[in-house]
Amino acid sequence: MVKTTVSIIKADIGSLAGHSIVPKPLMELAERKLAEGVETGIINSYYVFNAGDDLELLMTHFKGVDNEEVHGLAWETFKAAAEKAKALKLYGAGQDLLKDAFSGNVRGLGPGVAEMEFEERPSDPIVVFAADKTEPSAFNYLLYKVFADPFNTAGLVIDPRMVDGFEFDVLDAIENRVVTLKTPEEAYMLLALIGTTERYIVWKVRRASDGEIAAVSSTTKLSLIAGKYVGKDDPVCLVRAQSGFPALGEILAPLLHTYLVSGWMRGSHWGPLMPVGLKDSRCTIFDGPPRIVALGIQVADGKLVSDDDGRPLINDLLADPAFDLARREALELASALRRMGEFEPARLGPQAMEYTTLPLVLKKLEERFKEV
Ligand code: 13P
Ligand code: 13P
Ligand code: MG
Ligand code: MG
Repeated sequence: MVKTTVSIIKADIGSLAGHSIVPKPLMELAERKLAEGVETGIINSYYVFNAGDDLELLMTHFKGVDNEEVHGLAWETFKAAAEKAKALKLYGAGQDLLKDAFSGNVRGLGPGVAEMEFEERPSDPIVVFAADKTEPSAFNYLLYKVFADPFNTAGLVIDPRMVDGFEFDVLDAIENRVVTLKTPEEAYMLLALIGTTERYIVWKVRRASDGEIAAVSSTTKLSLIAGKYVGKDDPVCLVRAQSGFPALGEILAPLLHTYLVSGWMRGSHWGPLMPVGLKDSRCTIFDGPPRIVALGIQVADGKLVSDDDGRPLINDLLADPAFDLARREALELASALRRMGEFEPARLGPQAMEYTTLPLVLKKLEERFKEV
């Protein structure tokens, strides 16, 4: 049976009034480009949205992961949108397009990507997460809770298809190597690694009983490509739901409360992750707080399930008042952290700050230091 691929590829290609939102003309341009992609048979369906200042291209197709045509379509879309952003003198036009030459794949060029290929089940619900003002390891906590914590996911205990647990592929972003850990047996070792969010990123999760892909997140570290801070690596993540995977409500349950992630202003501060609906995906206070949106989608016959006019049906999950508590907690934590100004732990530790402009400031002081 032909397999369906869901791809989300994103980049910050310019935003309105600082790092806040992707303005409408860029979204419309991206929609036109992806509509052409459907016409020319590269992709089957698409949905364009924004997570703050990041342009998100959600696409379905039959071409598998890391496909040259699909990545090429995304790359061309970002290039065209960046041109438009430059013409409009939008802020940070082309910010995440770090290299000029496309050679078959967007990996390593700046955009973030999460893709999964699978044989469709009779019904295939998926949650698409996208966050702004943070980094890929922001999903470490969420993915651990969803796939390894039975106090979050009842299905780990109750559903016979899940009791064997899950396998986590963890990327070491510094050494560029990967290790696979199996839960529940290796849950403590998994936590030993992924609690170190500045280095380890949960990349893929598979169901242990049959190796079926369950979740995948983007792993781009822009600073490691560019060698300096060029904006945070605002991440995306796909999670499959129901029928042998965690239920939709188990995937969202970790967001009952906020938690701290690195990013926020100048990518240099710890900030509370705030779940919001699409209309509130707009970073403001101190360029944040960091936001997360979640789209509930279904795929059928290689396409996003759509209405009679062909518009994809999107469930804007975090618009629900059920996340008001987390939003309130996020604002309270934001307020406490901002009171601390530039003192750690409100500001990130020195290793993470190496990629920012702070070393340039410290260099100015260097010659004034005297031996004691
Ligand atoms: P599934 O069989 O789809 O996992 O159903 C579980 C459920 O509906 C819990 O909310
Ligand atoms: P982005 O990574 O979302 O562009 O934000 C950059 C920044 O410096 C915000 O203060
Ligand atoms: Mg930006
Ligand atoms: Mg961003």
